[in-house]
Amino acid sequence: MFAWNTEFLPPHGPLQALAPSNAPPPIVSVDAPSGWGIEEGPRKMGDIEPLAPDMLVSLTAPKQCAWHFKGRYHYLGGRFVPPAIKDKYKLQLPPFPGTSQHVRLPPFRTDKPAEAQSAPPGQDTVEVLGSKAAEMRVNYTRGGLLESDMAQFQDDPMRGWAEWFRVATELKVCEEPNAISLASADAQGRPSVRVVLLKGFDSRGFVFYTNYNSRKGKELLQNGHAAFSVYWEPLQQQVRVEGTVEKLSEEESSEYFHSRPHGSQLGAWVSHQSEVMHNGREELEARQKELEAKYPEGSSVPKPPHWGGFLVRPTAIEFWQGRPSRLHDRIRFIRPDTNSTWKMERQQP
Ligand SMILES: Cc1cc2nc3c(=O)[nH]c(=O)nc-3n(C[C@H](O)[C@H](O)[C@H](O)COP(=O)(O)O)c2cc1C
Repeated sequence: MFAWNTEFLPPHGPLQALAPSNAPPPIVSVDAPSGWGIEEGPRKMGDIEPLAPDMLVSLTAPKQCAWHFKGRYHYLGGRFVPPAIKDKYKLQLPPFPGTSQHVRLPPFRTDKPAEAQSAPPGQDTVEVLGSKAAEMRVNYTRGGLLESDMAQFQDDPMRGWAEWFRVATELKVCEEPNAISLASADAQGRPSVRVVLLKGFDSRGFVFYTNYNSRKGKELLQNGHAAFSVYWEPLQQQVRVEGTVEKLSEEESSEYFHSRPHGSQLGAWVSHQSEVMHNGREELEARQKELEAKYPEGSSVPKPPHWGGFLVRPTAIEFWQGRPSRLHDRIRFIRPDTNSTWKMERQQP
C-alpha cells in the first residue's frame, strides 16, 4: 500500500488493521512508511492512525521523515549508500556481495525518545547506554535505623558490623558479602579503589590480604589510612569504614597463608601484582609452571615476604539504610583516634 499523498487507494481494511491502536504484528517499512509525509512524517489518514513501523529500511539515505521514526531498528540499504553518508555516519560498510546487505544506523538525534534510541544488544552507543542509567530508579523500603536500636553498639560498633554481617551472610544476600571496595590514596592524595575480600574481623578491626608491593600495598603502607565500603543490595544496606591501616603480624599472615588452597599459595608467588606485563599472559603461566615444579601439590609453600594481611583499625563506621524519597538513614560511630571512645551521630542523607 503506498501513496504519495494522504489519499489512499482502497481497500483501506488492511491499512486499518496495521494502525497502532489495533496492536498489529511488527511492521517493517521499506523507505518512507505508507501514509507518512516524506518530510513531515506521520500523518493521520482520515480516521486511520498513521503507521508506527518497528523497523525502517532507508534506501540511499534516510528521508527527512526518518526523524519521526520511533522503532528499534533503522537500517540503511548498504547497496545505495553514497560516500558522503558513509563518511558522515562513519559507517563500516561491508563489500557488496548481493542484495541482502544493510547497515544499522546509530540513533542520530539524541533528543529522540529513549525507546527510539535502543538497539540490539551490543550495538547501542555509549551515550545511549549511559542515558539508561538515569532511568534506573529503586525505591528503598527495606527498613530504617533508629538511634535507640543502634545505641547498643555505642561502646563497640564492631559488634554492630558483626551483626549486620551475620544477617547479610545468613540471608545469602550475595555469594561474597565480604567483598569490599577498598580505597587508597597516593602521595599526592589521588584516590584509587578496588575490590578485596575481607578475611576476618575482631575487636581490633578488619583484615584483608594482598601483595604489599602492589599499588594498594605501597599506598596503604605509605599513607597509613584506608577506607572501604560494602553495599548489600537485597538489604539496601551500605557500611562505610575509615581508619588507620597497618601490616598484620607475620605470624597471623603466615597462618592464614597456609590455610589457603595450594594453587592460591603458589599464586601469591607467581603474581607480581600491579606490575605491567610486557609479554602477555604466557609470562604468568610460565612462572606458574616453574613454581608447580618447585612446589608440587602436597609440599609446603613458604609465604612470600611481600604477601600478607592488612589490619584496618576503624575510626569511623557508618551504617546506611536506604529509605524512600532518598531520605536515607545514616548512623555513624566515630572517634578521633583508635584509642578514644566512640560517639554516635546521625548524618543527613
Ligand atoms: C571479588 C574480588 C575479590 C578480590 N579479592 C582480592 C583480595 O582479597 N586481595 C587482593 O589483593 N586482590 C583482590 N582482588 C583483586 C583486586 O580487585 C585488584 O585487582 C588487585 O588487588 C590489584 O589492585 P591494585 O593494583 O590497586 O593494588 C579481588 C577482586 C575481586 C573482583
